[in-house]
Amino acid sequence: MKYNFDEIVNRRGTYSLKWDGGELIKEIGITERYDEETLPLFTADMDLPVPQPLIDALHKTVDHKIFGYSVFPDEYYEAIQHWFKKRHNWEIKKDEIVYSPGTVHALNIAVRAFTDPGDGVIIQRPVYPPFTVAIEKNGRKVVNNELKCDDEGYYSIDFEDFETKAKDEKTKLFILCNPHNPVGRVFHQEELRKLSDICAANNVLIIADEIHGDLIRHENTFNPIAKVIENTDHIITCTAINKTFNVAGLHCTNVIISNPRLRKTFSDTMGFQLASPFTIAALIAVYNEGEDWLAQLKEYIDGTIDWVVQFLTERMPQVKVKVPEGTYVMWMDFSAFGLSPEEVHDRIYNKANVLLEDGSMFGEEGLQYQRICLPSPRAIIREAFERIAKEFEDIRVDNSLRSVVNSE
Ligand SMILES: Cc1ncc(COP(=O)(O)O)c(C=O)c1O
Repeated sequence: MKYNFDEIVNRRGTYSLKWDGGELIKEIGITERYDEETLPLFTADMDLPVPQPLIDALHKTVDHKIFGYSVFPDEYYEAIQHWFKKRHNWEIKKDEIVYSPGTVHALNIAVRAFTDPGDGVIIQRPVYPPFTVAIEKNGRKVVNNELKCDDEGYYSIDFEDFETKAKDEKTKLFILCNPHNPVGRVFHQEELRKLSDICAANNVLIIADEIHGDLIRHENTFNPIAKVIENTDHIITCTAINKTFNVAGLHCTNVIISNPRLRKTFSDTMGFQLASPFTIAALIAVYNEGEDWLAQLKEYIDGTIDWVVQFLTERMPQVKVKVPEGTYVMWMDFSAFGLSPEEVHDRIYNKANVLLEDGSMFGEEGLQYQRICLPSPRAIIREAFERIAKEFEDIRVDNSLRSVVNSE
């Protein structure tokens, strides 16, 4: 079936965090302005219709008329095993799979289960803000292995610094984000092996947040860390259908833990968890029948990214971007405008009335950046960039910048 991702679906009045959650969004501190004209592109949730087999499966569940406590059938586990084997050549055993109602929830459980108050947890900033929250709100310490950005906007790991920090005996856990949100890197096998070796040698557990792993540009390959190393005793992996298939509201994360001791500690800390019949039906439908939709979605997002790069080249060459290897977010460097982060914020959020996410939320390394989530109909993305460009028109374009962007 051919999907029309250009279709604009009105999400207002559907309890949508993006489109109805103004008060909460202001409270979190993302913006001061939120009204009916606001274009919200700050959160990783798509404004695009989901696969038809998923809609059919949910209709079937509704038609049953009873929504009681539900158990996970064999098809649930088989669908997960089949997806990861087929898409990523990763063999998962049924008893390694632990359901969790969310990835951020699972990260919080892992921090509590495997570290003590005061222990250090490594993260690689700039990174998805809830990593910091999971560490600090649980009384642990952030140990930042800052990603290094070169002149081309390409981020890489500072392994020397990583090893020094892993060696500290207070360091107990590393939260890996792969594909990395917001910088868009998909780490290579050699990078993953090196991280794993350092952690194994220093008794540091790895919890890998791989929930963007299906959203990869066509020329890149995603490798789950647990697939590329032999001994996975120190690895916990979060997988989810929420980013891939736009079902964040159905709360479905599956945590893969091969080490039985870690699995028991994780499950005991989390407590008994059941999922809703909608969640179970959704996972089975998307993992068994969602590939065709995903192929079309990826093509659409690739097209949107091409459009954004072209637009910025022509209209806002001061904004430096790198096409992300994975994820559907774009990390945009506004430093060439020579404006303060507050001024950039004011022009985008208050004047253009577009909601992105200030880079500073991802760590101080992101101070000059803005993150945008792109999985919306292209007309919405166009409108957002038109509005933003208009608010920066008064700043002279330096033609040398134009050529830098063009040559990338
Ligand atoms: C890297 C990363 N992890 C976790 C989440 C949230 O996952 P969940 O809704 O399953 O808690 C997001 C959402 O944007 C994300 O980008």
